[in-house]
Formats: sequence, structure tokens, C-alpha cells
Amino acid sequence: MSTLNNFWVIFLLILSISADAFCCSIKGFHLVRNISELPQDDYGMKGLSHITVAGSLLHGLKEVEVWLETFSPGTGTPIHRHSCEEVFVILKGSGTLYLASNTHGEFPGTPQEYSVFSNSTFIIPANDVHQVQNTNEHEDLQALIILSQPPMKPYIYEDWTTPHTAARLLFPVFWDKECLEGTSDKDEL
Ligand SMILES: *[C@@H]1O[C@H](CO)[C@@H](O)[C@H](O)[C@H]1NC(C)=O
Ligand SMILES: *[C@@H]1O[C@H](CO)[C@@H](O)[C@H](O)[C@H]1NC(C)=O
Repeated sequence: MSTLNNFWVIFLLILSISADAFCCSIKGFHLVRNISELPQDDYGMKGLSHITVAGSLLHGLKEVEVWLETFSPGTGTPIHRHSCEEVFVILKGSGTLYLASNTHGEFPGTPQEYSVFSNSTFIIPANDVHQVQNTNEHEDLQALIILSQPPMKPYIYEDWTTPHTAARLLFPVFWDKECLEGTSDKDEL
């Protein structure tokens, strides 16, 4: 019993030390946090509201990252791919998922279209080119987004005929920028 207690004390100690090592970690952040009070921003993208609910750079997570994103009518994600797995849970509104599973061709090509709706969920397989759009002109689209292997390193496509090799890496993503910029100059070229 006391060995077990010791284990937990050491475990929590290591956890708090490694959490401190993240420059952008919210020092002393509460275990239970009110989502309504977490930082949210459009990061320069009109119609977007992004909240990093639980993050790699923000909170020191290594295996998973969770976002809450709200898209106003007519807005959505860019056309992109990433090597991590992604799960969407649609909380509010409705929209369209565009998914091109053709990773063998030179470019994604015409995507499959799927209607997504409140209380629906879908998985984006690793490396499949996709886009989620709020195609409902009357309502915001809100989704909880779960990603593996953070931080996210997306490749952005101009359109569905952009060659895979021409998709451009967006790293760090907008909301991770200030975290990484705050670290040090050692990553600068
Ligand atoms: C969470 O935050 C919102 C906005 O500040 C507030 O209205 C709400 O009461 C908070 N919830 C709790 C349980 O504190
Ligand atoms: C989503 O589905 C679950 C399972 O049927 C249900 O319990 C829940 O109330 C639904 N939520 C909404 C927002 O419709």
C-alpha cells in the first residue's frame, strides 16, 4: 500500500516537473477547467472560433490533442491532410465532409461528399485529404476534434487538383505559433 502511495507521489512529481518544462504550459492550471473560460480566437480566420481544450504545446500532452472549433455559415477547414488520425464529434449544426481517399494518384481529385449533422461522428484516416465545411447557411457548426500524435502538422492544398507533392506544410499551426515562438531561437534558420 505504501509502495503504491510512493509510486503515485513520484509519478505526480515527475508529471509536475515535465509540465513545467513546457514554456507555454499554463502554470498551475486547474485539473478541471471551464471550457467557457479557455482562450478562444479566430487566429486571423474569419468565422472560426478555436479553443485548444487539451494540447500538446499548451498542456504537455504527448499522444492526443483535443480542439473545440466553431465555424460560422460558409466557413470551414482548408483542404488538407495529416499523418495523424482524427475524430470529429459534431456537437451543433450541420455541414459537409469532403474526403478524397486517393493517396495513390498525383492529386486528390473529386472528393466524396458526406452530410454531417449534430450528434454525428466520423474518423479521418491518416493521410486522407479532407475538408469540413459549414454548408448550413442558418447555423454555426461546432465540433469536438480529437487528434493523435500532436502537435498537428497539416499539409494544405489550394484545391482538389493540387498535386500531393505541392501541398504546403503548415507548421506550427496558427494556435501553436506563439507557444513555439516563445521557446527559443534555436529553431530559427
Ligand atoms: C463557466 O464559465 C462561464 C463563463 O464564464 C460561467 O457562466 C459559468 O458559470 C462557469 N461554470 C461554472 C460551473 O463555474
Ligand atoms: C446524441 O446521442 C446520444 C445517444 O443516443 C444521446 O444520448 C444524446 O442525447 C444525443 N445528443 C444530442 C445533442 O442530440
